[in-house]
Formats: sequence, structure tokens, C-alpha cells
Amino acid sequence: MRPGDPFSLETYHLFKHPPFEHPSFCNFNIIEVIGRGTYASVYRAMRGHLMYALKQFEFDSNVGRLSILASFDREIRAHAQFPNNVHRNITRLISLVLGECGVPTGLAFEYVAARSMVGRRFDLVILERIAHQVAEALVFTRRHHVIHGDIKPNNILVSDDGTVIKLCDFGLATVVESGQRARIQTYGHGTLPYTPPETVPTGHAVPFLTYASDIWSLGCVLFEAATCIAPFLRNDDHRTIQAIHEGAYTWPENCTNAHFRAIVDSMMRHDPLVRISLDLLLSSSLCSK
Ligand SMILES: Nc1ncnc2c1ncn2[C@@H]1O[C@H](COP(=O)(O)OP(=O)(O)OP(=O)(O)O)[C@@H](O)[C@H]1O
Ligand SMILES: [Mg+2]
Repeated sequence: MRPGDPFSLETYHLFKHPPFEHPSFCNFNIIEVIGRGTYASVYRAMRGHLMYALKQFEFDSNVGRLSILASFDREIRAHAQFPNNVHRNITRLISLVLGECGVPTGLAFEYVAARSMVGRRFDLVILERIAHQVAEALVFTRRHHVIHGDIKPNNILVSDDGTVIKLCDFGLATVVESGQRARIQTYGHGTLPYTPPETVPTGHAVPFLTYASDIWSLGCVLFEAATCIAPFLRNDDHRTIQAIHEGAYTWPENCTNAHFRAIVDSMMRHDPLVRISLDLLLSSSLCSK
């Protein structure tokens, strides 16, 4: 990021809790890489005796510079919506991280001793806990007018014993200005196998996101965490989109209990208005623990 980039000063000020000092990347002792995403690398790092997860945006990568800036901007804006920036199921943004010339190039988060859900299978007790705690996080984000927009296994951290569950990565989040919907710039917002039908509409319909979009994606994540199968993932994008619209997925015969399946099914209803609401989900037996 260079001085004078369009959003830098504005978003910089959004995330200022005086008295506050934003550290430089060189103030941290980097221990290891813990994640490499589309826009950023994430490092486990120490500063003094505290551990952080440092998300450094890769401005030299092949991804367009403007999309990286947009992701950085969205992440700060979303966290700036959260009072005191604290919810037990959301990774806490602590500060910006400054690069050379003193301009922000990254973000310092609380380090969470947990791994993403990618490639992991969970038993019913932990699945229920994940459903419950991510739903709690989504109630909080909704209360503060934020749609996460990219719920997927990479963006949910779960400790080995299942007691720590946190939603991370607000790099595709949207702050809803009014009402229940947000217009989106691109067809297929988010990560295709987890994206809901309203973001990849057929015909000439305009793509949109609602709070219910995050529920669809959470349904896909729960399905995959129970079966190791991403319900709508196909060999190519066209078939994936077709499967999303047709609701074409099949539960493996040996899979979990019927009640779990019925609730996950209700999270993946095509019409966001008839998809199970967060409130109903939280009052369901899936979220009773
Ligand atoms: N606060 C944290 N504590 C521990 N690990 C974290 C933390 N934040 C992120 N990670 C790890 O880093 C990975 C990438 O983080 P994040 O999703 O924020 O980056 P990204 O560049 O947006 O990734 P992607 O493009 O894959 O969504 C996560 O999947 C997780 O494994
Ligand atoms: Mg991510």
C-alpha cells in the first residue's frame, strides 16, 4: 500500500481507539506462517510477551491491487462496526500494522490456538457447538449491520477439544446501509461452493446478499464438517452453480442423525426468505448446548 491510496486515511481513522499506537511490522517477532490466503499471509508473531496473528496483505501478489485494498478496507470497516471489538466467537482485531513509510500494510489480531475447519470431520457434539457459536457470532454481526459474506471452513477456527470456536476473515464483509439486503458488485460474491443462490442468480436478476446468505454458507460448512463432502462442489463452476440452484446434494446414508440433517437442510433453502432464520436456528435443538 502506498501513501495516498484512496481509502487509507479514512479507514485508518475508523480503527483508532485513542490513546492508540499502531505498531510496525518490524516490532513483531515472526514465528511461523499459519495461513496463506488469496490476499494475505497470516503469521504467528510475538510482541513483548503477547502472541498475535498478523495478516499481511500481499500487495506484490498477482491479485489486483485494488481488490487487495478493497479486502483490507472491508475487514477494517466491519470490525469498526463492533462495539469494543469484542465477541467471544469472532477473532479480535487489535491494531493496524504499519509497513515501510508508516502506511498500513496489515492487521494484528488476537492469536487463537485453534485450526481452521478445512479437511476436518467433527462428531455431532462438536458440530452442534460450532452451529451454536457461529450462529451467536452472526447474531452479533447482524445486530451491527454486517454480513460476513465468506463463511467457509477456512474462516472458522476450532480448537482440538472444540471449546474455542471463532469466526475470522471479514475481508469480504459488507456493512448494510439500510434494510435487509446489500447489493453486491460481482456475480458470485464469496467462495463459490459456499455461496448462496442469491449471489449467482439466473437470468437477469440482480445479485444480492442478505443476513440469510451467511446462514446458507454455514449450512454448507456444517454439511461438509459432518460428511467431508462440500455439498455443491462440482468439477466446474457452471455445474457448481447449477447444483446450488437445484439444491442438488445428497446426504451419505451413514451420516449423522436425522434431526441434524433436517436443520442443515433448512439452512440451505433456495429462497432466503424461507431459509431458517438465525433466531429459529438458535432456538432449535441443534443449538441447545
Ligand atoms: N487470529 C487467528 N489466529 C489463528 N489463526 C488464524 C487467525 N486468523 C487467521 N488464521 C489462520 O490463517 C488463515 C487465513 O486467514 P484469513 O482467512 O484471515 O486470510 P485470507 O487471506 O483472507 O484467506 P482466504 O483468502 O483463504 O479466505 C485461516 O484460515 C487460519 O488458519
Ligand atoms: Mg480466509
